[in-house]
Amino acid sequence: MTALIGRDLLGLADLSSTELQELLEMATQLKSQKLQLHCNKVLGLLFSKASTRTRVSFTVAMYQLGGQVIDLLPNVTQVSRGEPIQDTARVLDRYLDVLAIRTFAQQELETFAHYAKIPVINALTDLEHPCQILADLLTIQEYFGTLSGLTLTYVGDGNNVANSLMLGCALAGMNVKIAFPSGYAPDAEIVEKARSIAAGKTEVILTHDAETAAKDAQVLYTDVWASMGQETDADNRLPIFQPYQINQQLLSLADADAIVLHCLPAHRGEEITDEVIEGSQSKVWDQAENRLHAQKALLASILGAK
Ligand code: CP
Repeated sequence: MTALIGRDLLGLADLSSTELQELLEMATQLKSQKLQLHCNKVLGLLFSKASTRTRVSFTVAMYQLGGQVIDLLPNVTQVSRGEPIQDTARVLDRYLDVLAIRTFAQQELETFAHYAKIPVINALTDLEHPCQILADLLTIQEYFGTLSGLTLTYVGDGNNVANSLMLGCALAGMNVKIAFPSGYAPDAEIVEKARSIAAGKTEVILTHDAETAAKDAQVLYTDVWASMGQETDADNRLPIFQPYQINQQLLSLADADAIVLHCLPAHRGEEITDEVIEGSQSKVWDQAENRLHAQKALLASILGAK
């Protein structure tokens, strides 16, 4: 396997298609316990936004590899008192072996990575959520036995998850359709990057028509309509996003054996109905579990675990 020793993961396009496939294979083997890896390293978590899945799955992954984790809560570090990123990054670099950061601006993450020589992992920014998409692809591959040639339709806000999904699907040889209301498009540069990766082999389609996008999809995916930091706009968004809800009617347009994914937390009755998230086609709990296996593979590969 190609190790990612010492590498940052700031966005999904930091991986090649081969590296992505190898990470997913490693995650599969770790999950089935055909592969056991060990490293005595220390992971720092520096999260400026709330997190359940990412925080816990990174922590458990590191423990299972035999490493340690320090949760650098902003309110108990000097970060909350305005210590400059470049100073914090160079100091943490002297203590830690790897740092996972959840923050708002992608530029902040990139500044950390510039000043810290240790590997830096994007644990969610406003632009991308690459670790989530590793788990998503692992879930899809487990269910269908392959990724190549499948079609994933994302309906909702053109947010960080939509951005990273476009890149992940293109890298995995999948078609991806993003259906969003006018004014809520995914990042234009990432659309171009995903289309360049897809390079005519697969499609990256943007549309405002959720029903047409859902037709013949093997995977229907959504996320909250107002992401962290956008809560004050949540009520305004409800009527705008209503046609983009994953409900039984939209699901009936997809392939008969289509699966439904949601990165969680979910707002039942908004972007997804209770009936669908609790239904037989929902794989959201497998998807959430796979955060652990995918991130364990990522940490093992970056840290050269043996
Ligand atoms: N999907 C996701 O990132 O979940 P958390 O915000 O709980 O980490």
